[in-house]
Parts: sequence; structure tokens; C-alpha cells
Amino acid sequence: MTRIYFNDVVTRDGFQIEPNFIPTADKVRLIDEMSQCGFAKIEVTSFTSPKAIPMLRDAEEVMGKIQRFPGVEYTVLVPNLRGAERALESRADEFNLVMSTSETHNLANLRMTREKSFAGLAEVIQFVDGKTPINVSLSTSFGCPMEGDVPQTVVEEFAKRFADLGVRGITICDTTGMANPAQVSAMSESLQKLFPHLQLTMHFHNTRGMGLANVLAAVQSGITRFDGSLGGLGGCPYAPGASGNISSEDAIHMLDAMGYNTGIDIPKLLILARELPTIVGHTVPGQVAKAGRSCDLHPAPEYVADLR
Ligand code: COA
Ligand code: ZN
Repeated sequence: MTRIYFNDVVTRDGFQIEPNFIPTADKVRLIDEMSQCGFAKIEVTSFTSPKAIPMLRDAEEVMGKIQRFPGVEYTVLVPNLRGAERALESRADEFNLVMSTSETHNLANLRMTREKSFAGLAEVIQFVDGKTPINVSLSTSFGCPMEGDVPQTVVEEFAKRFADLGVRGITICDTTGMANPAQVSAMSESLQKLFPHLQLTMHFHNTRGMGLANVLAAVQSGITRFDGSLGGLGGCPYAPGASGNISSEDAIHMLDAMGYNTGIDIPKLLILARELPTIVGHTVPGQVAKAGRSCDLHPAPEYVADLR
């Protein structure tokens, strides 16, 4: 059974765009409960400027209050040097650096050119100096909502430049759900050949209903690491029309039904997914929490017995 590693990003990618601030205590409780479900990694929060992302202004407090479960890595988003200083102080297990492969999206999201972002992140990597493993998330790798196509070679070039700086992993992000399964297979195969020593993660959004199809394409091409978001919350505040990440529980349920080893306690995860609407105050897109697992059977109506 192939082992699949899931990183849940709901408290970062999901909560950063919620219209209402999620109380710190709710974030901490949710993370502690997710830790007990078997996630390999949890993206806890983001050390961005609290003015840019006010919903995650409690990053230090959340990192200070969560329990650290053995076997779970607690990663945080780090946009710049100031973020890295804060993340080091919070003893995060991994720093997730982020930039876009599209010039326009990078200007919109991070307010600088890609080259300036790369130089800034290179400085962060130098500053961290191997003290904490680094992952780099490359946004809009399957297309930009403003520019359109992002050539695979551009994504590969940025991945190579970061690999040369010694990062541990690269996450290929479909920030606005533009990827299709054929594109995902091509990208997955090529990246694994080019970077056999990197941890490669796929980060999909279900904006156009292609999320699970893309997970399937990636996993069948040999990818074993995925980002997902409890309930399918999430989205980029700087991407027009962006919507939720793939729902962790839907993707995990699919892979588990196919015989992959996700390491996740699915009934426990579904309990959390069912609590999420109360935490955020609205319904969430995930489907398995509503329908139950495909192996959860219903009693047949009584008249069926008479018809046998
Ligand atoms: N943590 C805390 N404060 C920060 C910070 C950080 N990581 N980075 C910048 N700041 C503060 C500065 O201290 C400064 O504060 P001041 O106005 O009180 O002096 C202010 O933010 C502006 O700083 P500046 O260096 O000009 O940064 P910026 O405004 O160009 O912001 C980013 C750059 C990347 C930090 C900011 O645009 C950002 O966080 N964007 C959100 C990116 C994101 O997370 N997107 C969603 C995920 S893909
Ligand atoms: Zn995302």
C-alpha cells in the first residue's frame, strides 16, 4: 500500500479569507484535534504582516498554544525575513516560503516582481541557514487568472533555482483551480524526474470541480504528498474568483477507498469536518462529511424484504 502524506492547510489557506476572525481558542482546539487524526503535516498559520492578512494576526499565540504531537510537522507560511524571524521564535518545524510563478499574480499578491521575491526568499533561506527545513510553494503553477498559461518550463526553472539553494521541498500550487488532469500528469512526471531528491507536494483548488481528478492524476503519476483543507475551505485573497482548496476528507476518503494508506483516522476526521460549519458560521463545500463514507451503508426500506 503506497503511503500518502497529507498536509492540512485549513487554518492558514482556509481561515485567511474568512470574513470573520476565528477566535484563537477555536484555531488551537481545531489544530490539536487535527493532530490526532494522523496528518503528516499541518500548516498552522502565516507570519505575514497582520495588516495584509488580519485574520491570522494571532500567529504567535496560536503557535505558542498548540500541542506538538510526535509525528506531526507544524509548518507556517513565511513571506519575508521579518516572517522568518517570527517563525524561528515560534519554533515551527518547517517554513513554507511562497511566491508566484506568474509575474502579475506575484505583483498582486506580494507587491513585488518575481525576481525581487526570489532574491528576498533566497535571503530568508540564507538567514535560516539549515536551522529549519524549508519548503517553497510556487503559486499559480498551472495557470494565472490574470495572465493565463504559465509554461511548465517556468515552474521548473524556479523549482531548480530553489533546489540549488538547498530547500527540502517544493509545493506546486494550482492557486485558482485552473489545472486539468493531463497537465497535472505531465507536470508530476517531469518534476519527479528532474528533482528525485525533493519532497514534491501538489496543492489543488477545486474552483472548477477538477480538484479530485487532479489528485488522481498526480497520485497515478507517483506523487505521494498533497495539501488539502478541512471542509474544502480556502482561497487566495489576491486571486479573482478563487475558491476552496480540495477538501482533505474528500481526497483522503477517495484514496483510502482505492487502497492507498493515508494514515488518517477517517471517522475522526469527519467529526471535525462536521463541526467546521459551526466554527466558521457557514456551510462548507466538502461532500463526504455530508454524505458519509461510501462504506457507511443505510438500512433498506422495510418493503424491500417483502419483494424478495
Ligand atoms: N510580519 C509582520 N509585519 C510585517 C511583515 C511580517 N512578515 N512583513 C512586513 N510587515 C510590516 C512592516 O513592519 C510594515 O509595518 P509598518 O507599516 O508598521 O512599518 C508593513 O508590514 C509594511 O512592510 P513592507 O516591508 O513595506 O511590506 P509590504 O507592505 O510590501 O508587505 C508582504 C509585503 C509580503 C509581507 C505583504 O504584502 C503580505 O504579507 N502579503 C500577503 C501575502 C499572503 O500571505 N498572501 C496569501 C497567501 S498566498
Ligand atoms: Zn491555496
